[in-house]
Amino acid sequence: MRPERTREKPTARRVGVWCVGARGAISTCLVHGLAGLREGLLEPLGIATEAEPLARLPLVGLGDLVLGGHDVCTRAVRTGAEELAAQGVLSPELLAAAARDAAEYETRLRPGVLDQADVGLADLDPSAARLGALPPREQIDALVADLAAFRSAHGLARVVVVNLASTEAQRAPRPEWQDLAAFRRALDRGEAQPASVVYAAAALESGAPYVNFTPSLGASIPALRELARARNVPHAGSDGKTGETLVKTALAPLFRARALQVLAWQGYNMLGNRDGAVLADPAHKEAKVRNKDEALRTLLGDEAVHTHVGIDYVPSLQDWKTAWDFIHFRGFLGVRMSLQFTWSGSDSALAAPLVLDLVRLADLAAERGEGGEMLHTAAYFKAPVGGGTHDFHAQVEALHAYARAAAVPAGGSAERDSRIQAQRTQE
Ligand SMILES: NC(=O)c1ccc[n+]([C@@H]2O[C@H](COP(=O)([O-])OP(=O)(O)OC[C@H]3O[C@@H](n4cnc5c(N)ncnc54)[C@H](O)[C@@H]3O)[C@@H](O)[C@H]2O)c1
Repeated sequence: MRPERTREKPTARRVGVWCVGARGAISTCLVHGLAGLREGLLEPLGIATEAEPLARLPLVGLGDLVLGGHDVCTRAVRTGAEELAAQGVLSPELLAAAARDAAEYETRLRPGVLDQADVGLADLDPSAARLGALPPREQIDALVADLAAFRSAHGLARVVVVNLASTEAQRAPRPEWQDLAAFRRALDRGEAQPASVVYAAAALESGAPYVNFTPSLGASIPALRELARARNVPHAGSDGKTGETLVKTALAPLFRARALQVLAWQGYNMLGNRDGAVLADPAHKEAKVRNKDEALRTLLGDEAVHTHVGIDYVPSLQDWKTAWDFIHFRGFLGVRMSLQFTWSGSDSALAAPLVLDLVRLADLAAERGEGGEMLHTAAYFKAPVGGGTHDFHAQVEALHAYARAAAVPAGGSAERDSRIQAQRTQE
């Protein structure tokens, strides 16, 4: 049976979602997913903010989100969508129903900044290379102007910036990243900065909440965390926890809770999409592997445990990421045992609903006057900015505690109550 249309009542409050990496697979799934929800073609599966207890929060409606963004390549959104349809991620029906939204979205895209010629960018937009060659302050000004134009053109209450761009090569730490004053002096001297840092600085300077779904630096450097606190702008990151690491951080606490000794945890990931092609480069892979491994080591509380994380590019898998984990452990009587799991998922379909949750939570945090790291969103990330536990269950409990404190009391929103009721009926 077709789900009911979820078109939200028009409200005065519309919020912009500015995707950095706007032509990529996750962004393309966002555009098509929102259109599909609005047309009643899709159920809100995977969107935790549509389910209890988060649905009690006074969040912006999914129908009130307006998408735009930056990219550095020229590939048409339609082309990317057709690729995802050929891979079985988007249905032909959804592709047709979202065609108008996708075409409108395309008109809202602007060339972004590229600080160094990267891998996986055969169709590089020359304007992005030109912008990326400007001094960093001019780059930030150009991005800030794009955000302001987007906001005013669509009468948006706020714009949330989400980094969905290709993972950058690992960068060595720089002294100017340690505090805001030093960072500003480096900008004055015209010292080039990684693109993810430039985007994050532009978002925070314009007061736009910022979400870093990638392992790139973004707003995680101390200077920008200071800027976010000074400007009272909320931000969250880094590196979305969508698949293998999600399962790892849900499973690892089990071994500790039962006092079982993990001897080895081997994890092998194979993926074939553009992200996979970028991560095939060792410099780009480094941050991803580090995030995945660090979460596990911290959870097991044993620095000596033998762990391995591999990421291999297997083109024929396309968007279907496959991970195989082998866990070797020891229990009572010294007996050695093992657990294995295989995870096969569409990377982009797993990521897109998380981005919707994070955008709504970032907008809510800004509405509530909360600035700095959104610690309650740690469950969404492999390397939460602001630290804290990697235990998925504890992270979700923290998110729910936040939701209980910030929820609309029962009867506080008739629209939300009826949405929750409809969801219960479906269950
Ligand atoms: N899908 C997941 O499950 C998942 C999980 C965690 C993190 N991520 C991260 O999310 C990001 C996006 O994933 P994807 O599968 O959509 O990737 P993708 O390769 O399909 O899209 C990335 C897009 O970013 C663009 N881009 C590259 N450099 C840019 C720049 N400087 N400015 C603006 N745009 C730029 C590319 O042209 C491309 O269109 C990746 O960094 C990936 O590692 C994905």
